Amino acid sequence: MGDEAKAKVLVFSFPIQGHLNPLLQFSKRLISKTVTVTFLTTSSTHNNIIRRAISGGATALPLSFVPLDDGFEEGHPSTDSSPEYFAKFQENVSRSLSQLISSMEPKPNAVVYDSCTPWVLNVCREHPGVAAASFFTQCSIVNAIYVHSLRGAFKEFQDDVVLPEMPPLKGNDLPVFLYDNNLCRPLFELLCSQFENVDHIDFFLVNSFDELEVEVLEWMKKQWPVKNIGPMIPSMYLDKRLAGDKDYGLSLFSAQNECLDWLDSKPHGSVIYVSFGSIAVLKDAQMIEVAAGLKQTGHNFLWVVRETETKKLPSNYIEELGEKGLIVKWSPQLQVLAHKSIGCFMTHCGWNSTLEALSLGVALIGMPAYSDQPTNAKFIEDVWKVGVRVKADKDGFVTKEEIVRCVGEVMEEMSEKGKEIRKNALRLMEYAKEALSEGGNSDKNIDEFVAKIAK
Ligand code: UDX
Repeated sequence: MGDEAKAKVLVFSFPIQGHLNPLLQFSKRLISKTVTVTFLTTSSTHNNIIRRAISGGATALPLSFVPLDDGFEEGHPSTDSSPEYFAKFQENVSRSLSQLISSMEPKPNAVVYDSCTPWVLNVCREHPGVAAASFFTQCSIVNAIYVHSLRGAFKEFQDDVVLPEMPPLKGNDLPVFLYDNNLCRPLFELLCSQFENVDHIDFFLVNSFDELEVEVLEWMKKQWPVKNIGPMIPSMYLDKRLAGDKDYGLSLFSAQNECLDWLDSKPHGSVIYVSFGSIAVLKDAQMIEVAAGLKQTGHNFLWVVRETETKKLPSNYIEELGEKGLIVKWSPQLQVLAHKSIGCFMTHCGWNSTLEALSLGVALIGMPAYSDQPTNAKFIEDVWKVGVRVKADKDGFVTKEEIVRCVGEVMEEMSEKGKEIRKNALRLMEYAKEALSEGGNSDKNIDEFVAKIAK
């Protein structure tokens, strides 16, 4: 078939950074396999951010962007967590997507959609011949835990949850929403809804790679045609020959690239990189404690404190840091993680950050906050053994002494645990690279997906 397009695909992401990134990357992978991709964003995200980013030349993505009417005006936040938001979002996007498909000739072969919008399946079914591919931005381990929970395997907070093909889990290893009823109910319902129609979807794609979760994956595959297609991170971090593909292509935040110059001035392996992703919010007292803990480690550190969080920093903190520490509002995270000066990554364990670190062989300090993050942290420490997890008190508070202890374990040259962690991190990095190199598990799964939809 040569370079002629094999298939035409629409890709729709929930408009938050942690979902846009892997779906943008998957789109690029599909394009590299001669699939034509149209990336669908909500009209409010398109108007607020993407239009400006594209016209500013911020992206060199070989994609076209089409906004879907989500019923919200320019200036409305990309998402909010109210039931009203979700209802209006679903109603408007379903209608707008269906109209788009009707207007296309030939019809797209498939819609790849964020698993948090399971109702896209109904839109696909209105258009015979358009396959429905649900894309899960969390790993199969987390998916399996949700499935067990929905089947009633455990009802409420309990210590020692025993599930097939997993190590015993404590209550605080489970995705947060499964045991904390005080958390946002609509978000919990949104996450559970990912599984409501999985018996009917055509493709069950997961942003992970097989070596991370072999046993659980086998268990999931007995029920659904689950396929790992990850790690969905820009290709140059997996294959140096693809130097052009160094970021996801679009960011809802402006990165302060000058932090790379600061990193250039630091010795090899000497910097702690700290970031809690695009959503996590630390309580005021916790922020102050993290600030004190990082300073007390005596190591260099680069800390991403989002604009909305900066007011929680202790007064004069930035001035007092001098050359030891740098605080930025957003970083070019992949370039930072790939920088030789980075010694470890203190993270909230969002799945993208976790995969990025695993793919780049960076040791982790997990300080999970929300959603799937505690489960990721559990596996980072106890199963993959590529990092340590901070111990929090019963209210979830982490002391500065604990931060210093964890940094010591991972950063100390001579610590046995640190050595083992670094060795494991490098081993998993090789597996991550293999998965997406030609003929690797994930690469084969993507080829199979393309072949099936192109039929
Ligand atoms: C969310 C959830 O929290 C996460 O657990 C889920 O699995 C996916 O969606 P988020 O909290 O933002 O995402 O964390 P994460 O998954 O790590 O995604 C953040 C993304 O932003 C990463 O790709 C990271 O590289 C990028 N980032 C973060 C930057 O580019 N610069 C920064 O300064 C911080």
